[in-house]
Amino acid sequence: MIAVPLKNPLVPMIDVEAAEERLKGVIQQTPLMPNLNHSKQFAAEVLLKREDLQTVRSYKIRGAYNKLASLKEQQPDLTHVVCASAGNHAQGVAYTCCRLALQATVFMPVTTPRQKVDQVNMFGGNYVNVSLVGDTFDEASQAATEFSEQHQYPFIHPFDDPEIIAGQATIASELLAQCSDQAIDYLFVPIGGGGLASGLLSVIKQHTPQTKVVGVEPEGAASMAAAFQSGCNVKLPQISRFVDGAAVQQVGEYTYAICQQYLDDVIQVPDGLVCQTILNLYNKDAIVVEPAGALALAGLHQYHSKIKGKRVVCVLSGSNNDITRIEEIRERALLYNGLKHYFLVRFPQRAGALKEFVAEVLGPADDITYFQYQKKHNREHGPAVVGIELNNSHDFEPLVQRMKAGGFFNDYLNNQPELFSLVL
Ligand SMILES: Cc1ncc(COP(=O)(O)O)c(C=O)c1O
Repeated sequence: MIAVPLKNPLVPMIDVEAAEERLKGVIQQTPLMPNLNHSKQFAAEVLLKREDLQTVRSYKIRGAYNKLASLKEQQPDLTHVVCASAGNHAQGVAYTCCRLALQATVFMPVTTPRQKVDQVNMFGGNYVNVSLVGDTFDEASQAATEFSEQHQYPFIHPFDDPEIIAGQATIASELLAQCSDQAIDYLFVPIGGGGLASGLLSVIKQHTPQTKVVGVEPEGAASMAAAFQSGCNVKLPQISRFVDGAAVQQVGEYTYAICQQYLDDVIQVPDGLVCQTILNLYNKDAIVVEPAGALALAGLHQYHSKIKGKRVVCVLSGSNNDITRIEEIRERALLYNGLKHYFLVRFPQRAGALKEFVAEVLGPADDITYFQYQKKHNREHGPAVVGIELNNSHDFEPLVQRMKAGGFFNDYLNNQPELFSLVL
């Protein structure tokens, strides 16, 4: 059990300054960029802290390097460490171990996107050994803890460690220097285990406490909100893994203590909105982010009226997006925006039925994107699974009406998750 200083759990500035020293020459000072598209959309001054451009393409290098370098200062004969990660912390550890000539055994869930596993191997080279275990970060973490105890190698936690938090806190010191004397009204930060938020809070609440810090979690993995609601650090029995960087069943002891006392709000965003944000950033600003990297910006929608006319900073935390996920991201965004619909359609088993469906049921801009059908000779009707993409979500009701009028409608699948996941 960790002894967290409950009275003042913030990481002291002296530790953040030590982290800044260690990180000199290792990390990038990432830009703080005004974003015109989102500034116009929200009638606010929206600035993006571009940790997607960081070494290892996420902020995680800051905490990992600070922790390992300070461990090495305390134990110069240290040779081997262990970590568990959803992917980005592992890249930070791998990069650091290669620089500091340390061996690392890295545990990641089996579900980790291939791109992240490859990058860990690339950064770590001969210094890193990757082990894929379990379906979730928490399962990989359990295996890593056991391995570290068995071999007596230090376990490098991805978020629940004051040195990790101090490393992530250096983002906020950089941010304040980049803003000089212009106050930040709102700071939006993604939350997985809470290490990044705890680091930012440690600096912001000691320097500019008037800045409101809003934590943003994925709707399907809202472990910080669950902890707040229960009044203790509970473990969610199940989570959605789509926002892989922030898919954590249980936040940390330190991170819970800091966030619970200092976070101004914690909100959740649906996966579909995260996907739409990824696509907007790519299409409009040529910025590539991974799902966790888009969380903070996706959170602005819930604060639309509050941030009007305000100075708002969002941390784009990472850009390790696997290109093979882009179809799924597009699909989720279409579903979220009411532009993609799946039906069970009854086709009369006679020639010309499909032609009639296309001519009389589909609107001029409705596009069939999925069609699965097998002719059954001993029945009057044959069921087909049909996916239709619309130009405008308002075209949905008239489409259903025409389908019903023509006797084609059997069932609507979007709101039936069990059926939906079976057919698609
Ligand atoms: C890109 C990215 N954003 C956000 C997070 C969440 O950070 P934390 O676990 O420190 O809350 C992670 C965690 O791995 C991440 O990789």
